[in-house]
Amino acid sequence: MASFRNIAVLGGTGQVGRPIVKALIDAGFNVTVVTRSLGSNPKEVNGASFVTSDYTYESLVKIFTGQEAVVSAVAAGPPIAAQKVMVDAAIQAGVRRFIPSEYGSSSIDQPLEDFKKLMAPKTELIAYLQEKARLHPQFSWTCLSGGALIDMGIPSGVWGFSMSDRTATIFDTGEARFDSITIPAVTRSVVSVLQGPADSANKYLLIRSFTVSQSEILAALEDITQSKWSVSYVNAENLRQEGWKLLAGGNPKEGIENIVRGALFQGQKDISVSQDALANTQLGIQTTNLRDYLESMVKN
Ligand SMILES: NC(=O)c1ccc[n+]([C@@H]2O[C@H](COP(=O)([O-])OP(=O)(O)OC[C@H]3O[C@@H](n4cnc5c(N)ncnc54)[C@H](OP(=O)(O)O)[C@@H]3O)[C@@H](O)[C@H]2O)c1
Repeated sequence: MASFRNIAVLGGTGQVGRPIVKALIDAGFNVTVVTRSLGSNPKEVNGASFVTSDYTYESLVKIFTGQEAVVSAVAAGPPIAAQKVMVDAAIQAGVRRFIPSEYGSSSIDQPLEDFKKLMAPKTELIAYLQEKARLHPQFSWTCLSGGALIDMGIPSGVWGFSMSDRTATIFDTGEARFDSITIPAVTRSVVSVLQGPADSANKYLLIRSFTVSQSEILAALEDITQSKWSVSYVNAENLRQEGWKLLAGGNPKEGIENIVRGALFQGQKDISVSQDALANTQLGIQTTNLRDYLESMVKN
């Protein structure tokens, strides 16, 4: 299967979608960003065409016709389930590969019960893709799962670090270890899949930049900034329980944030996947050093 050329990207205006679009353009693909609203934006930005869609089947079939692959980076929450319509429209339009909005921790082999519950719509979509690929052999899918995105977790403060005042909130002991991925590794993976689609057809691929703990990040940040950071401690289990209450009370943003932090950073467990399970080499992901990466984040 030769490299695809024409790629439609949904959610290409978002945090993860924007860098994916840029990487695809840089790699020479013809990119169409499918957005719900153009707003005041032009119809072409840095080589990508923009088209609007209300995410209905009819609208998407029209847009996907002539596209060889669809990459979704739509937001977590209700848009994840809306991808079923995107899959149906892609099949009808003759699209050959669908990459769903995944990119985070594994939604098919998830060790954390809280994550399993939160990720149920993503897990359901994978089952949907598997079934559709069985029924339509010309259609295929690839999933990319990399663990927690360091480029979102650190600058947003969600992982407990504040660069501006050099303070850290450590959950429990800070020793829980988990997989993390960088945006460049995600974008490299998407480009690799679309350049050599045969190797990744109907596969759930695990990728990783580093396995980290909060303590390791804090040590690296203290070394980079040559200063002792001010540290406070939070009980992860209390935070996790508070998160579920907030979610049930209609506050999904703070609720999910607290559940994720309470579950991921809890205790001293190591939930990293084994090296053998990783598709890093297949996808051409370069080895990244945690300290160097954090240093570039601190400088920017
Ligand atoms: N592992 C991690 O740590 C991590 C962190 C962040 C994200 N992720 C994953 O990466 C994927 C993309 O997340 P993101 O943070 O990049 O998403 P985002 O920036 O919040 O949203 C991406 C795009 O989704 C589109 N969208 C469609 N329906 C929407 C709706 N009802 N509400 C809001 N946006 C909607 C919007 O594009 P238009 O307005 O152009 O239509 C938006 O720009 C998700 O699967 C998420 O779970 C993982």
